[in-house]
Amino acid sequence: MVGMLSPVRILVTSALPYANGDIHFGQLAGAYLPADIYVKYHRLKGSDIVYICGSDEHGVPITLAAAKQKLSPKDIIDRYHNRIKRSFEEFGIEFDNYSRTSLPIHYRTAQDFFSRVYKNGFIKPGVTRQLYCPSCRMFLADRYVEGICPYCGSKGARGDQCEKCGRWIEPSELIEPRCKVCGAVPEVRETRHWFFALSQFQESLRKWLGAKQNWKPNVKRFCEGWFKKGLKDRPITRDLSWGVPVPLEAAKGKVMYVWFDAPIGYISSTKEWAERIGEPDRWKDYWLDSRTKLVHFIGKDNIVFHAVVWPAMLMAHGDWVLPTDIPANEFLNIEGRKFSTSHNRAAWLPEYLQDFPPDPLRYALAVNLPENRDVDFAWRDFHARNNNELADVLGNFVNRVAVFLKKNYNGRVPEASLDGGEGQEVLEAIAEAPGRVGGMIDSYRIKEAARAVMTLPALGNRYFDRQAPWRSFKADPSRCDQTMAVCTRLVSMLEILLYPFLPFTSRRIGKMLGLGKRSWDDAALPVVPKELKSTEILFEKLDKSIIEVQTARLRIRKPGHVRKGKAMISFDDFKKLELRTAKIVSAGKVPGTEKLVKMIIDIGGEERQIVAGIGKVYESQELAGKTIIVVANLAPAKIRGVESNGMLLAAIDGDNISLLTVDRPVSAGSEVS
Ligand code: 2FM
Ligand code: ZN
Repeated sequence: MVGMLSPVRILVTSALPYANGDIHFGQLAGAYLPADIYVKYHRLKGSDIVYICGSDEHGVPITLAAAKQKLSPKDIIDRYHNRIKRSFEEFGIEFDNYSRTSLPIHYRTAQDFFSRVYKNGFIKPGVTRQLYCPSCRMFLADRYVEGICPYCGSKGARGDQCEKCGRWIEPSELIEPRCKVCGAVPEVRETRHWFFALSQFQESLRKWLGAKQNWKPNVKRFCEGWFKKGLKDRPITRDLSWGVPVPLEAAKGKVMYVWFDAPIGYISSTKEWAERIGEPDRWKDYWLDSRTKLVHFIGKDNIVFHAVVWPAMLMAHGDWVLPTDIPANEFLNIEGRKFSTSHNRAAWLPEYLQDFPPDPLRYALAVNLPENRDVDFAWRDFHARNNNELADVLGNFVNRVAVFLKKNYNGRVPEASLDGGEGQEVLEAIAEAPGRVGGMIDSYRIKEAARAVMTLPALGNRYFDRQAPWRSFKADPSRCDQTMAVCTRLVSMLEILLYPFLPFTSRRIGKMLGLGKRSWDDAALPVVPKELKSTEILFEKLDKSIIEVQTARLRIRKPGHVRKGKAMISFDDFKKLELRTAKIVSAGKVPGTEKLVKMIIDIGGEERQIVAGIGKVYESQELAGKTIIVVANLAPAKIRGVESNGMLLAAIDGDNISLLTVDRPVSAGSEVS
C-alpha cells in the first residue's frame, strides 16, 4: 500500500524481551502493541520505516531462570526465543527483524561498541566492593541478590533495580541482602570492574533532553530526578560466565552487564535485517543518518536505561543517531493488582492465543493503554469489549451492510449519487477521520486513535437505523441505493483505518471487498467495489463463563512453567461428565490384540462392557474385583469391532499406565466429582 513517501526515515524498536518466559499482557500493552500500531500506520502511509526487536538473552534473568529449571542458559533462551517469536507472529506483531543477542553478529557489534567507547576514554577500570555468596562461591551480580530498597524501603528489591520506585541500585546498597540462589547472607569482597563514565554526560544529556519539547512528561520527569541526584559512573562488567565477553585482555573472564549489551541489540538486529534483505549496508541509512527518527517503545521500568544510559552510550561512541522519541508507557495492572511474573499474577499471550483470536485482545488493550497512568486489565472488561463493541457495533455494522446487499442487491453495490441526502455526516466523517486518527497515532496517542476509529461503525449503525433501508428498498429505491452506497464506502474505509489496530479483522473485510492494496490516504475517499466477494461474521460473542475461567487462571499458573495443556473449560463443561466408580466383574484380552482388554463392569446395578488399552501393563486376572473410575456418559464406540460403553480413567506416564481407583471401599456406581 504505497502512498506519498514522507521525507524522514523511521527506525522503531520495542524493548528486547528477556528470553526467560512468555510474553504477558503487561509487556504487550507497554512496548509491543502500541509500536506495532504505529508501524502499521506508517507502513500504510508509505513511510520509510523499519521495526526492530529481538530476544534479550543475557544477564541474570536468564541464568536465574536456567538455575531454577535445572537447564542451561542456552536451553532457556532457545526455548523461549522461539515461543516468544511465534506468539508475537500469531498476535500480528510484525517486526521487520526479530533477532537475538546470542548471535555472533550481536557479539561482534557489542564488542566493537565497547572497544570504541573504551578507546574514546569513557570506560575505566576501578575496584569495587561487591556482594559475594560464600556458599555459592560467586559474586552476586544484579538479580542474584535481593533485599530492602535503600531508597523507598520496599522489600524484595533486586540487586539491579527496585521494581517499586524504579531506582537503579547497586547490590552493595541493598539493606539486609540475601543470596537469591541459596538464601545465605552475602559478604562484601573487592573485585575489579570496568566503569562507564556516565557522570561525564550529565550536562550533554540534560541539554539534549531539555530540547525535547514533545516528550511525555513521565519520561522527562523521571530523567530530571536522575539529574538532580547526579549521575554516577556505573560498572558495566560482571563476573559471570554467561554474556558477551569483554574485549579487553585485562578483563578476561568477565562479561558485559546485560544493560550494556542489550540496547546495542537494536543496532545488531538492524544489521541482521539488512543482511537478510540482501543489502548489508542498509542499516547505516538508519543508524548513521541524522535525519532518522529513532523511536524506542518501552515500559516505564526501562526509562532510565533508554533515556539516560543508552543516549550517553551513543554519545560516548560518537557515530550513531540519538533517540528522537521514547514513548514510555506506564504499567498495566491485572484485576486490580500489579502484574508480577515472580508472584505468578499475569495473563500470558500463548495461553490467550490458545483460547481466543488475536484481535479482541489487541482491541481491549489498545482502547485502554497505560499511556499516561497505570490502568487495569479485567477479563470482565475484555468480555464486554468483545461482545458489546466488537461484535455488537463493528461486527454488526459490517455484517448488516453485507447481508442487506446480498439479500436485496444480489451482493452488488448500487451506484448512487452521494450528493445531498442524510449521508453527509457519514461522508464528512470518512473524509476527515484518516487525517485526524493518523495525527493521533503519529503523536503516540494510540488509545485515543483506537477509540476514534471505533466511533465510525457506531456512526454507521445510527445512520443505517435512521435510513431504514429495509423500508426504503420498496418505498424509495434511490434513497435506499444511496444509503447502501454510503454504508459500503464506510466499510471500505474501515478496512484501512482498522488495519493498525485489528489487522486480522481488516484483512477479512478486505476479502469481502476485494479491493486489493490501498494506502492510508486512500481511506479519505475510499473506492467501493462493484460487488461483495463474500460475507462473514467478524466476531463471535463470548460466553460469560470466560470471565471466571480466565480470572481463575491467574492463580494457577506456576512462574516459568510451560503449560502445553488444552484450552481451559468452565465448571459447567466439567459438570457434563458423568464420572462413577465401577467394579470390574470380569476381564479378558480382545482376541488378536496385544493391548486391548475387554471388561464387564458393574456401575451400580447395571453391567456394561468397556474396552481399554491396558493389556501390556495389566494381566486380565488381576483386574477382576478392582474398583475403577469410569466416564459413564461417553457415547458408545467400537474399538477393533468390539463395543465399548464407557471409558476408564488411568494415569499415563509414557509406557507406565496406572488405573485410577479409590482409596477406601465405596459401592459400585458411586458418583465421582
Ligand atoms: O526489561 C526487559 O525486559 C529488558 N530485557 C529490556 C531490554 S530493552 C533493550 F535495551 F534491549
Ligand atoms: Zn548463595
